[in-house]
Amino acid sequence: MNINPINATLGATVTGVDLNALTDDQWRSVEEAWYQYAVLVFPGQHIEETAQVALGERIGNLERLVSDHKAVPISNRRADGKAVDEDSDHFQILKGNEGWHTDSTYMPVSARASILSAQVVPAEGGETEWADMRAAFDALDQSTQERIRDMAAYHSLFYSQAKVGHKPQKGASYGLDDQNIPLRPLVKIHPVTGCPTLFIGRHAHGISGLSDAESESLLEELTAFACQPPRVFAHKWQSGDVVMWDNRCVLHRARPYDYSQPRIMRHVRVAGDPISEAGINPS
Ligand code: OGA
Ligand code: MN
Repeated sequence: MNINPINATLGATVTGVDLNALTDDQWRSVEEAWYQYAVLVFPGQHIEETAQVALGERIGNLERLVSDHKAVPISNRRADGKAVDEDSDHFQILKGNEGWHTDSTYMPVSARASILSAQVVPAEGGETEWADMRAAFDALDQSTQERIRDMAAYHSLFYSQAKVGHKPQKGASYGLDDQNIPLRPLVKIHPVTGCPTLFIGRHAHGISGLSDAESESLLEELTAFACQPPRVFAHKWQSGDVVMWDNRCVLHRARPYDYSQPRIMRHVRVAGDPISEAGINPS
C-alpha cells in the first residue's frame, strides 16, 4: 500500500490496495493514515456497495439517511434515470452542499465519517473540496482562539437552506424533522486524537451571547480564514474513485458543474459517538 500526502495540511492518496477485498492488516494502516491525514483519496476502486458499507462499519455504526438504506445516492438523477427536479428539496440540498459544511451537524448526533464513491461524474466541475479545521484552529491568532474557545453555535439545515434561498418542507427528508436544534462548541476536541478543531460550517448560526449579525460575521470571517491554502484541496473525480473523510475535523463542499449532466455518487455516513458528537444543549 502506498500513502502519498497531498500538497496541503490534510489529505493523502492511497494506492496499492483493493477496497473490495480489504484485509484487517490493511485496514489498520488505512485507519492510522486517516487519523493523520483526515481525508484519504482512493483512485479507481469501483467499490461495491457492500464493500463501501463494510468499510464504513469498520469505523462505526452507520447513519440511516434514507429509511433502511445504509448507502444512499447523492445524485441529480432519480432511480428511473430522469433528472431530479431542480425545485425539489433533494436538488436544493445538493446545491446547498456547495457551501462549506460538515455532515449531520444539524442532527442530534453529528457524523463521525463519510465515504463517497463516484459512479458517474461530469467532465467539467463537480469536484469536492476539503478544508483542515485542525490546521485552521492552530493558525488562528491566540486572542481569537481564546475568544472563541467558550463559544457555541446552533446547527440547523433549515437555517443553511434558507441562506441559499430554499425553504424545505418540514419532514421532507433527513435532517428536516428534528425539533431540537443542536448547540455545538465552536472549538471541538477531536475525541480520538485530542486535537482542537474549528467546528463551524454552513449549518452554524446564532452563537450564544452575540447578536445575529455579529454571529454571522464572525462565522463568515472564520470560514474565509480557515478555508484557504495550505488548508484546502480539491479532488477532481473520476468514476470509481472513493474518498473517506473525518467529519470531526474537516469541512467539505461540492463544486458547481453543468446540472444538465449526470452526477451520481454513493454515500455511506458513519454516525458520531453519542457522547462526543452530541449537542451541548439539554434536549
Ligand atoms: C456529501 C457531500 C459533496 C459532493 O456527500 O456529504 O457533501 O461533492 N458531497 O457531492
Ligand atoms: Mn456533505
